[in-house]
Amino acid sequence: MTKMEHIEQASRDELQALQLERLQKTLHHAYENVPMYKRKFDEAGVHPSDCKTLEDLNKFPFTTKQDLRDNYPFNMFAVPMEQIVRLHASSGTTGKPTVVGYTQKDIDTWADVVARSLRASGLSNKDKIHISYGYGLFTGGMGAHYGAERLGAAVIPMSGGQTEKQGQLIQDFQPDAIMVTPSYCLNIIDELEKQMGGDASGCSLRVGVFGAEPWTNAMRQEIEQRLGIDALDIYGLSEVMGPGVAMECLESKDGPTIWEDHFYPEIVDAHSGDVQADGELGELVFTSLTKEGMPVIRYRTRDLTRLLPGTARTMRRMDKITGRSDDMLIIRGVNVFPSQIEEQILQFSQLTPHYQLEVSRHGHMDSLRVKVELRTDHASADLHSLEHHIKHRIKAMIGISTQIDIVAEGQLPRSAGKAQRVLDLRKTA
Ligand code: DLL
Repeated sequence: MTKMEHIEQASRDELQALQLERLQKTLHHAYENVPMYKRKFDEAGVHPSDCKTLEDLNKFPFTTKQDLRDNYPFNMFAVPMEQIVRLHASSGTTGKPTVVGYTQKDIDTWADVVARSLRASGLSNKDKIHISYGYGLFTGGMGAHYGAERLGAAVIPMSGGQTEKQGQLIQDFQPDAIMVTPSYCLNIIDELEKQMGGDASGCSLRVGVFGAEPWTNAMRQEIEQRLGIDALDIYGLSEVMGPGVAMECLESKDGPTIWEDHFYPEIVDAHSGDVQADGELGELVFTSLTKEGMPVIRYRTRDLTRLLPGTARTMRRMDKITGRSDDMLIIRGVNVFPSQIEEQILQFSQLTPHYQLEVSRHGHMDSLRVKVELRTDHASADLHSLEHHIKHRIKAMIGISTQIDIVAEGQLPRSAGKAQRVLDLRKTA
C-alpha cells in the first residue's frame, strides 16, 4: 500500500479551503512584488482582495509565454536575487528562452511533489532510480533527481545521451525504475534488446516515469510490453515548476492526478478564454499556490486536455494531453494532432514506433507525409500493400489523406530528450 500524505486523501472541502487561503496569499504576493502583475491587475480593474472564492480567480488576467519573454530574464521574479537559489530555462522554438527562478523553499516544494509522484508510482527508499532526463537548464533531470533523493531512493544521474552506456548501466546497476522521455526510452529499449539478445522484458526495471512530451496509450503498451514494466505519466512545465505538477497513480493508471494543493488548474476555451466545466476539453491553465520565487497567475500552458474527477486521490486528474494548441496541424481543414497519427502507426506490428511527420504546402493545399520505419524482421513485406493499409487506416480513423514513406529500420532520427516529430516545411518555404 502506497504511503500517502494527509492532503492526498483530504476531503474536497478541506482541499478547497487550503487552496483559497494559498491563492489569496499568492495573488497578494504577485501583485505587491511583480510590476507586471500590478499593471495587469490594475488594467483589468481587479485587486487581490477581490478574490473571495476560488471561482473569483476568473476575474484575474491570464499570463502567457509572451509575458515571460517581455520580462526576460528576471522581471517576473517576486523576490530579490539573494533569495533565488536556482535558475532554469526552457528553450522555445523561437526567440528568447523562458527563465524561471526558485527560492530554497520552492526547491523543497518541488522535491516534495516529485517524491510524492514517485510514491504514487509505487516506489520507495528501497529502490534504485535511473534518471535519463537531461540535466541542465531543462527542468527534467534535476527535478527528477531532487525528488528521487527526497524519496530516499538510490539515484543514478545518467542524464540523456550515450545510449549504449545507458543500456550497460541498466544491466549492471539493476535499477527498479527509469525516468525518461517516452521517445528516448524507445532508443534505450532498442539498445537493451541489442545487448540482451532481442528481449529486454527480463531487465530489472519495474516502473517507468515518462513525460515532457505527449505520448499515447498505444505507446504506453508498446513500452510496457518490451520492458516488462508499468509505464506511468508525469506532467509538468518549467513555468509552473518542472516535472511533478501532476502524476499518474500506479493503482489506477488513468491519467495524471494534479497536485492541487500546490497547482490550481482551470480549463479554458483556447479562443474565448472562458472557463470550461470539468470534463470539457480545452486549454490547461495553472496558478501556482505556494511558489515564492516566481508565482504564476493563470498561466496559459497551451496544452489541451480536460479535468476529471479524482479516483486514486481526492485531487482531480487531467486526461492525457492530446497535444499543444501550437502543435495542431490543419490539413485541408481537418485538425490533426501528431498523437492521433502515433496511435494509428502503433497498430502496425510491421513498423517500429519511430515516426516523423512532414507538412508542406503546394499552392494553398497542405499535405502531410508520414515517415515510418519497417522493422528489419519484416523486410520482405509487400511495401505497396502496407503503404496502402496505413494510408487507408489514417483516412478512416482521422479523416485525412496522407502520403506514406516507408524507410528501413534505423533511418529516422532518434531523440535523446524531447522528440521532434513534426517537420513543418511551410515555415521555411
Ligand atoms: O518538460 C517538464 C517535465 C520534465 C515534465 C520531465 C515531465 C517530465 P518544459 O520543458 O517546460 O518542462 O516543457 C513543458 O512539455 O507544456 C507539455 O507541452 C509537455 N509535457 C510535459 N509533460 C508532459 C506529459 C518539462 N506528461 C511542456 N504529457 C508542457 C504530454 C507533456 N506533454
